[in-house]
Formats: sequence, structure tokens, C-alpha cells
Amino acid sequence: MEIHPDIERVLVTPEQIQARVSELAQQIDHDYAAVDRLYIVGILKGAFIFLADLTRQLRIPHVVDFMALSSYGRTTTSGAVRILMDLREPVEGQHVLVVEDIVDTGHTLDYLLHILNNRKPASLRTCVLVRKERQNNGVKVDYLGFEIPDVWVVGYGLDYADRFRTLPYVAELKRQVYSK
Ligand code: IMP
Ligand code: MG
Repeated sequence: MEIHPDIERVLVTPEQIQARVSELAQQIDHDYAAVDRLYIVGILKGAFIFLADLTRQLRIPHVVDFMALSSYGRTTTSGAVRILMDLREPVEGQHVLVVEDIVDTGHTLDYLLHILNNRKPASLRTCVLVRKERQNNGVKVDYLGFEIPDVWVVGYGLDYADRFRTLPYVAELKRQVYSK
């Protein structure tokens, strides 16, 4: 596999990702076996690749929608959060599964869950590709792909300043790329 020159090291290979995505899909199929319509909410932009792979492995009936969130201020991690694009449907009474790329401090997901809970879904769970091993305010992650070290990661949807999203692996970015 060819590795991008700005990459320090690969943390999760494409093969490991695909294997884990299959396991997560099976778990979700199992847990929602009795639900006739799972409302899957992908968080743009970072979740688009994970969401596409995950949903194509699901056997339960589901629909896909998107939200786009943005953090104020810093280029990398979160300040305040705002909604750039909202869901197309009211989620009241629906079974909602949020699909997110990463939990770092947990601030973004925590805020989002707060908003969605106020809309009174029948149930609300989260599926996250990677979570950093650090303080992430105990935000509820029901389905987790991988725990990763507290470094800046890119690939498989994750970016740095909108770059590197389409790399097929999750990798640590070289420090000089994001500290200059
Ligand atoms: P939070 O700190 O959990 O609120 O994460 C805020 C947002 O920062 C995430 O949704 C990502 O968009 C972004 N983020 C945090 N850490 C990384 C990273 O290592 N790579 C790419 N994006 C990240
Ligand atoms: Mg994100």
C-alpha cells in the first residue's frame, strides 16, 4: 500500500476498517431487528465514507439523512457548535442512529445529542468510527470502531483543513503538517 508523504504512521488499515465495519453492521442489525425503520443520521463531512460502507452492509430497513455541523473558531478542534444543515424530517418517535467520524473532546457529539434528544426520538444511539484515548466527557458511544491515541488523524473521511479525507486508511498526520 502506498502511503501519503504527509503521513506519520497508519493506525488502522483498510482491511481492519472493513472487518470492523462488518462487525458493527451485524451488531446494529441484531440490536434493531425489531425496528421497521432506522433513521440513520450521518454527520457531514467526516462521516460520509464510514456511513456509505456501514449502511451498505445493513440488512435491516433504514433510511439515511445528513446533518452538517461546524465549530466556531479554531481550524482543528471544537469551540461552540452550530448547525449548518439540518435533517429533512422531524425525528419525533423515530429510532435514530447518529453516525460520526470521531470523538475527540466529545463536545460536538454531546451537543448534537442534546439537540436531537429535545426532538423526542423513540430512541437515540451513536456509532463512531474512532475515539481518542483522552478525556471525552463520557459522551455516549454505543457502537465504536476503534480507540486511537490522542494525535491528529486523517483518512477514511477524516480531514485536516479539508485535505486527506479520501485516504483509504486512518493515519496519524505528520506533526509538521498541522503545526505550521
Ligand atoms: P470533539 O472535540 O469531540 O468535539 O471533536 C470536534 C471535531 O473535531 C470532530 O467532529 C472532528 O471534525 C474534529 N476532529 C477532532 N479530532 C480530529 C482528528 O484527529 N482528525 C480530524 N478531525 C478531528
Ligand atoms: Mg467531524
